[in-house]
Amino acid sequence: MGKIILTGDRPTGKLHIGHYVGSLKQRVALQNSGEFDKIYIMIADAQALTDNYDNLDKIRNNLINVALDYLSAGLDPAKSTIFVQSQISELTELTFYYMNLVTVSRLQRNPTVKNEIKLRNFETSLPVGFFTYPVSQTADITAFKATTVPVGEDQLPMIEQAREIVRSFNGYYGETLVEPEALLPKSGAARRLPGTDGKAKMSKSLGNCIYLSDEPDEVKKKIMSMYTDPNHIRVEDPGSLEGNTVFTYLDAFCTDKHFEEYLPEYANLDELKAHYQRGGLGDVKVKKFLNNVLQEELEPIRNRRKEFEKDIDGVYEILYNGSVAAREVAAKTLSEVKEHMRINYFDDLELRNKKN
Ligand code: TRP
Repeated sequence: MGKIILTGDRPTGKLHIGHYVGSLKQRVALQNSGEFDKIYIMIADAQALTDNYDNLDKIRNNLINVALDYLSAGLDPAKSTIFVQSQISELTELTFYYMNLVTVSRLQRNPTVKNEIKLRNFETSLPVGFFTYPVSQTADITAFKATTVPVGEDQLPMIEQAREIVRSFNGYYGETLVEPEALLPKSGAARRLPGTDGKAKMSKSLGNCIYLSDEPDEVKKKIMSMYTDPNHIRVEDPGSLEGNTVFTYLDAFCTDKHFEEYLPEYANLDELKAHYQRGGLGDVKVKKFLNNVLQEELEPIRNRRKEFEKDIDGVYEILYNGSVAAREVAAKTLSEVKEHMRINYFDDLELRNKKN
């Protein structure tokens, strides 16, 4: 059995550099590593609808935004199957059978769900669909027999839940499904990129995101007004790195090569940090360096995006073809699931020819 990747994103907005460094960049590297036999990248529109059932336009419009973000970041439909969750009805069927294998109290204890419910102030208006989305996410993963699920740290409880459902299914009905493993980004800074205002998370509603599709001057403006150390007022003052967003971003993005190119008076980030902490290094200089680093990273992405934007119909065609291919695989798994659950009545000749 091969190594198979499945992962995805909810199409609730354009992707930002937090998504990029926390997951998209790694996916592209995994795609190009040649180590995986199959790679499935899913736009999780059905999951997004579990808390956007009253906002259909948002999901419908962002489907293409996320697809463009994927393609411009370097996901290649020749190497990765990019598809749309809602078009694979087999996933819904699998979800229904897996629901029997999870208790309400187990879902209530899932830290990701707990946190997301709190964030949305659902209280007594929690949709059942939202509450049970970890089960549907298990269907997404297992339908493709994924061995590896590259995700952000916040998704770890989801993968744990999926593993439990797989063990339970295989225990009751015989070895059928594959237990997936999560794959986190290597660098700690990349796992949790804060917003430009220093708040823990980039979020559209907080207006603290740098988007993959931002133009160069927007990126620069956002960087120049970024949160640093509020006590670092004069250049001579010693600065602190703790919670200093500019340095967190540098941790996530910069390499020694960037120093050679844009800031040769330092050999690496450690030297720059030491100078900042000593005092005598102004924020503007560090921000300008970060701007150079980020512009270099974002430019090829922006250029590819402009190309794909010229042929939106072609992008939908990529999603359509990906969905057709994905559906075939999911249908095969579903039929194995039904066979193991012995609800394959009409294919079972022994059953049909049995004398009562
Ligand atoms: N829950 C994921 C997110 O919010 C999206 C997602 C849906 C997903 N199904 C998945 C991720 C399966 C990994 C595997 O980003």
